[in-house]
Amino acid sequence: MKPGDIDLSDPDVFANGFPHDYSDMLRARDPVSWNESRAVSADQLVEQRGFYSVTRHADVVEVSRNPEVYSSAKGGVQILDRDEEALQHVRAMLLSMDPPEHVDYRRLVNRGFTPRQVEALRPRIQSAAATIIEDVVDRGEAEFVTEIAMHLPMLLICELMGVPAADRQKIFDWSNQLVGHELAEQKRREPDETLISQYANGEVDGQVTTEMQLNNFFVLLAIAGNETTRNATSHAVRLLHENPDQKALLLSDTDRYLPGAIDEVLRCCPPVMNFRRTLTQPATLNGVNLVEGDKVVMWYPSANRDESVWTDVHRFDITRDSTKHVTFGIGEHFCLGVGLAKMQLHCILEQILKRMPNITVVDESVLLRSNLVAGINTMNVRW
Ligand code: HEM
Repeated sequence: MKPGDIDLSDPDVFANGFPHDYSDMLRARDPVSWNESRAVSADQLVEQRGFYSVTRHADVVEVSRNPEVYSSAKGGVQILDRDEEALQHVRAMLLSMDPPEHVDYRRLVNRGFTPRQVEALRPRIQSAAATIIEDVVDRGEAEFVTEIAMHLPMLLICELMGVPAADRQKIFDWSNQLVGHELAEQKRREPDETLISQYANGEVDGQVTTEMQLNNFFVLLAIAGNETTRNATSHAVRLLHENPDQKALLLSDTDRYLPGAIDEVLRCCPPVMNFRRTLTQPATLNGVNLVEGDKVVMWYPSANRDESVWTDVHRFDITRDSTKHVTFGIGEHFCLGVGLAKMQLHCILEQILKRMPNITVVDESVLLRSNLVAGINTMNVRW
């Protein structure tokens, strides 16, 4: 295998998970590697350009920490190129803003993600996790994704946004942007401690946030916090199933090993596989000269197995220090939901280990066809 053999923009390349053989080779031989664009989707009116794949840990850090050079706004954060109109919408989301705008918006929502706020949610999340498992435990089998993994993240987002119980069904209906609208109205009339209230009543540059910005934040949270945590939960159970020695160790002292095990799951299987940046000016990255407009794509699963940071990188080892993983990004856009994501994973895995310690995966999991989200669609389990 040599650089250029695989097109990392092609979702079919990920049919059996992330192509580690290929990225191991790139890290060693061509860490900032040109990827010719071959994939074109049917409805794309925009010509797709090639990009540089960034596969080493240090280079992912360098790109993420320098938003003035490596912009999230210029071309968005996804591999696919979009037309200017689509980009305007994308740029209204926190994830695709650059400083100084990004700094102002982030300050606004930061308050909803302080350790104190996270801790305040713990009792709710703990009891919800217990109920989710209680509801299925007597059956001895389940489809893990829809019956177990997806519930907690969804509940948490609703809790964060202060969505009343009666409206929760609506969250599933993405075409109904009214949810954000009605909520904003209500929170402006009766402000409270919820994140959405702070956002609805906050100001950036003296301007009250608009409906459009609110809707965007709502959608961002739902996407950023939902699929990611759900897939991390499924990956955790699958990795423990595949590594019985590590599972036995974890069961021997769950309180001691669970935090490390969660970080090791996140290192081995980052639920978001890449984000993109676009050059605002010429720069040199690991010896490769880049020009304005060039597109770079950071591959988190590769950076997380960089031999200069960890040894025996492909081994799932819950006792190692995995905390340098870049699964949540790093720098300017470092994930706001880290504390919440880890807390949810802790609560649900604690329940699973306690109440279904012999849980096993019974057949091949069905993976999501995507080059962005490392997703598990279906995973049958028995205990
Ligand atoms: C395992 C679960 C999660 C993973 C793997 C994950 C991953 C990421 C990554 C990689 C970024 C950085 C994007 C970049 O550098 O361009 C990010 C940003 C973000 N995440 Fe998460 N995330 C997770 C859970 C959550 C949760 C639970 C929430 C909220 C409830 C959340 C909210 C956000 C937000 C708002 C941003 C944007 C921050 C900014 O642009 O300043 N995430 N996430």
